[in-house]
Amino acid sequence: MPTYEEDYHLSIKDPETFWRQRQSEIDWFEPPKRILSRDTNKSWRWYEDGTLNSCWLAVDRHIEAGRGEAPALIYDSPATQSVATFTFNELGDRVRKVAGGMRELGVCKGDRVVIYLPMIPEAVVAMLACARLGAIHSVVFGGFAARELAMRIDDAEPKLLLTASCGIEFEKVIAYKPLVDEALALASHKIEHVVVKQRVQCEAAMTASRDLDWDKWEHEAPDADVVEVGALDPLYILYTSGTTGRPKGVVRDNGGHAVSLTYSMKAVYGVDEGDVFWAASDVGWVVGHSYIVYGPLFKGCTTILFEGKPVRTPDAGTFWRVIADHGVKTFFVAPTAFRAIKKEDPQCSLLQQYDISSLEYLFVAGERCDAPTWHWLNDHLSVPVIDHWWQTETGWSICANMAGYGLKTMKPGSLTLPVPGYDVRILTDEGVEAPPNTDGNVVVAPPLPPGALPTIWRDHERYEKSYWAAFPGYYATGDGGFRDEDGYVYVMGRTDDVMNVAGHRLSTGQIEEAVASHPAVAECAVVGIRDPEKGQVPIGLVLLKDGMNISPGELQTELIQMVRKEVGPFTNFKRCVVVKRLPKTRSGKILRQVMRKMVDGDSFAMPSTIDDPEILSEIQEDLTKAGLIATAT
Ligand code: COA
Ligand code: AMP
Repeated sequence: MPTYEEDYHLSIKDPETFWRQRQSEIDWFEPPKRILSRDTNKSWRWYEDGTLNSCWLAVDRHIEAGRGEAPALIYDSPATQSVATFTFNELGDRVRKVAGGMRELGVCKGDRVVIYLPMIPEAVVAMLACARLGAIHSVVFGGFAARELAMRIDDAEPKLLLTASCGIEFEKVIAYKPLVDEALALASHKIEHVVVKQRVQCEAAMTASRDLDWDKWEHEAPDADVVEVGALDPLYILYTSGTTGRPKGVVRDNGGHAVSLTYSMKAVYGVDEGDVFWAASDVGWVVGHSYIVYGPLFKGCTTILFEGKPVRTPDAGTFWRVIADHGVKTFFVAPTAFRAIKKEDPQCSLLQQYDISSLEYLFVAGERCDAPTWHWLNDHLSVPVIDHWWQTETGWSICANMAGYGLKTMKPGSLTLPVPGYDVRILTDEGVEAPPNTDGNVVVAPPLPPGALPTIWRDHERYEKSYWAAFPGYYATGDGGFRDEDGYVYVMGRTDDVMNVAGHRLSTGQIEEAVASHPAVAECAVVGIRDPEKGQVPIGLVLLKDGMNISPGELQTELIQMVRKEVGPFTNFKRCVVVKRLPKTRSGKILRQVMRKMVDGDSFAMPSTIDDPEILSEIQEDLTKAGLIATAT
């Protein structure tokens, strides 16, 4: 077994050899001969001439290998007080039928299918069924409002939409179907059929001739066999927030994705076939795609689909209960979940009720792990707490302390070292490499490894502009940070206008569009400020139109409702402040970062491009009056 250093060195010096060696970790229909090439867009591509099927790799392969009766998926739902285990055989039976049902509705290879489902087994089955047919799924997180769903429908132009009657958020039943109906009315693209899983908690009204009942549809469907697809054929599109209000459709291909995720399961997370792996995220986020569904199933692990919250379902001991009940070996979750637990159970006393000796590694990601949370976990658990860093765009981790190679010495606050395949550099704003311990922009030198995005759905120009224009010749991650004298990487936060609210990625532009549509608002800026529980929360800074007779309290209430309705409740938009003017550059760009740093109490330099420096003291005054800055300095 090579060391981390040997593999990392090889992956950077000779990526083709490193990834040729990794390709045999999966079963191909036609193994690739070309490992690394460039497509017509000049994007680096992996395994160009290989053919495979991602559903076959996740399900059928294990059945053929005699592991059909092994548990594949455990649905643990404190939301509905139920637990169900699906073996690979049982999962395969359902996936074959759902794929058959989709094919009967005309879904073929390359067609898009939008999935808007809560954390129920149908979500996993639907994704795998798409993969089986070579159709491209686009899962939309259930917390998004109708308008956001409509935007994604118009961009992906799906043939079919799969949904459920409701999701469950603590004690609240959230009806999904009215949101879907509204989104379909808003979207220009028309969808012929919607399949609805009726849940007992809420019966959805159906539109005759368009809507189909999931259970009946699945029951009556024929089995569908796997469709052979090319390594470069897209497996899915996952929309993520950029700096504007329009989401970016990150494209993931089949081949590189299967190889990188399979490799990562052992190399990063230290798990093998038969181990129980749990990522407590949502299928609507990249963590859910990679580590609830595909990664563990490719590897033949048991994966857990958890429909609940870290607290109040029923208490702050839920995570420990799930780990104990199912023998979880590696657990992956966002730090925000532990901040919620720590608040309710500061001494972690509920842990005493459970035997979590099966647990070997705890991985956190999705946002910066704050020091108090890391220390709390480290103090209360006897397993390594490993912070690792990645993005929707990469699909798997860029930096980690890799369990499969033997853990490196931990340095609190650090992500440890780059994962093989990622040539991570720190560049100054001028684009030169920063010396150790100096803050800069975190970039990756090409080629990006297998699994990372090759393009944005139907908008390659945006891909070039978003990721490759800021530092020509490098992939710009959008994160700022540094490397220390040992090469350990520290990511401190976004350098652009993307926010991270409770591990959910959001763009300021997305919320600004909703705020700006209020009739009293002349102009606005949304800024993500530090929050002890959610990591960051958005606040709105609003300029009123002349002559508007609305109180700040009334305005705030209306804007909160509008953001919930237009973007979704998970934005946690709860505060807005009326200001006299907004600071801008001479070219008109709002200086959001400056305002964020002002509220967070971080130091900032007066931007040389500022239009009118006086506005900064005005804004400071407005924010102080609103209680967002403790004292004016
Ligand atoms: N469907 C509908 N509404 C949703 C939703 C969903 N899937 N997810 C969240 N919401 C709603 C909540 O009900 C809440 O609504 P309310 O204001 O009416 O009460 C609101 O959005 C805020 O949600 P959130 O900030 O997520 O708080 P929470 O208490 O519901 O959950 C956590 C807390 C920590 C469990 C949750 O934020 C979480 O799981 N975060 C991690 C995200 C993640 O996995 N990211 C990937 C990187 S690892
Ligand atoms: P997403 O695409 O939703 O996974 O969000 C990716 C962004 O989340 C990254 O660009 C970072 O800003 C942030 N992020 C994810 N993991 C970490 C981490 N471990 N430490 C710091 N920031 C992180």
